[in-house]
Amino acid sequence: MTLIDDARAVRENAHAPYSNFKVGAAVQTASGAVYVGCNVENVAYPEGTCAEAGAIAAMCAAGEREIVAVAVIADSPQPVTPCGGCRQKLAEFAKGDAVVTMATTDGLTEVTSVGQLLPGQFDADYMVRT
Ligand code: THU
Repeated sequence: MTLIDDARAVRENAHAPYSNFKVGAAVQTASGAVYVGCNVENVAYPEGTCAEAGAIAAMCAAGEREIVAVAVIADSPQPVTPCGGCRQKLAEFAKGDAVVTMATTDGLTEVTSVGQLLPGQFDADYMVRT
């Protein structure tokens, strides 16, 4: 079972009646554990919550904080890429070299890293005046 398989399975549970665009995501932590999430939309905020954010929330709820690999999958013409907000959320919990695998349900995949997705990221160092 790959991380993409986990993301593919949880995608089935996505609640996306407004966009009709189901997304599944999985994150693996330094302990080896895997946490999954799907996008969840609602009528007041039809853009909803991204699959990646759901996986991150599940990870945090389990008391974990260190992502080493990410997978995301959708029924898209090209491998789906995390939105800007999710890139920042992933960067909060991952080093730049954490592997991000992006996939289509048809089997196309692309591999990148958290650092490549968010170059020049804002981090806590900017808040320290020396
Ligand atoms: N979406 C995700 O869940 N992850 C992404 O990386 C891109 C977009 C969701 C949010 C919304 O429910 C739908 O896809 C359309 O934007």
